[in-house]
Amino acid sequence: MDEKKRILSGIKPSGDLTLGSYMGAIKNWAELADSYDCFYFLADLHAITVRQNPADLRRRTLAQLAQYIACGIDPEKNTIFIQSHVPAHTQLGWVLDCYTMFGELSRMTQFKDKSAKNADNINAGLFTYPSLMAADIILYQADLVPVGEDQKQHVELTRNIVQRFNGVYGETFKMPEPFIPKMGARIMSLQHPENKMSKSETDTGGCICLLDSPDDIRRSFKRAVTDSEMSVRCDPSKPGVSNLMQIYAVCTGKTMDEIEREFDGRGYGEFKEAVGEAVVTLLTPIREEAQRLIADKAYLESVYRAGADKASQVAEKTLRKVYKKVGFVAR
Ligand code: TRP
Repeated sequence: MDEKKRILSGIKPSGDLTLGSYMGAIKNWAELADSYDCFYFLADLHAITVRQNPADLRRRTLAQLAQYIACGIDPEKNTIFIQSHVPAHTQLGWVLDCYTMFGELSRMTQFKDKSAKNADNINAGLFTYPSLMAADIILYQADLVPVGEDQKQHVELTRNIVQRFNGVYGETFKMPEPFIPKMGARIMSLQHPENKMSKSETDTGGCICLLDSPDDIRRSFKRAVTDSEMSVRCDPSKPGVSNLMQIYAVCTGKTMDEIEREFDGRGYGEFKEAVGEAVVTLLTPIREEAQRLIADKAYLESVYRAGADKASQVAEKTLRKVYKKVGFVAR
């Protein structure tokens, strides 16, 4: 019998989930459940590499779990868990720290970017972030890791660690691969369409969060940056319009050609309103379901407990193997 390939991915609960994280990642995750054995987690250990307010982190972690489910990640078909609930992540993370080179970590572009942005808090966790991420992946012997472009380098590093460890101790870890789904949309900021949509832009209307109210969403799309050409056409020289078309395409399932024809001869005002309305239609059921789940603490608890149990079983098996290989005495 053909075993299903295993998929693993996670998002840090360090900010609210955005339309970009939905269209670029979570929507695809939900669709993989039938063909793959999927593990999705909330990377709270990774979140504290940047200072967090404790109450906010706790609230956002639970809200993010509710949003995963509201976006269609069915806890009956997927293993959904909170990273800090499975101690094997930190345990393997330490071991992998000892098989990851200072030079390798120094070359990570995310580390360089984040150190520049958090110059007053360049902590060791920020530096070893990628070896913890490698532990996340190989604890589950994941075949495929759906990630955005910005995380590919970390998956490449994971592959180097796997090769190094397997080289010394024999086949221990499965070699993972970055997985960029066919339909993965890269959604850009509505205000600065040359940049990825980012949580740091929520106040300026550049970013849409999954729990935003319909009026806020409509307002942000009305203010979205376009260009002076007045034609709805997908073209690299028209990043604002192209991004809006991309968003509209994901919402409606229409092709770029169909969208061009639909708005031929109509102004940007009408176009932006239509995109805003399509996003409101897409997000309303997600927001309502997420809010219902956020209020149902007992249900969320049952989901993350069951997820942690399932995840721990797989993770601990790998960890025991590693402890034995490196020479620790079994307890
Ligand atoms: N580093 C990822 C991000 O910032 C989150 C993450 C942590 C992750 N561990 C992972 C993603 C393991 C995929 C697999 O988006």
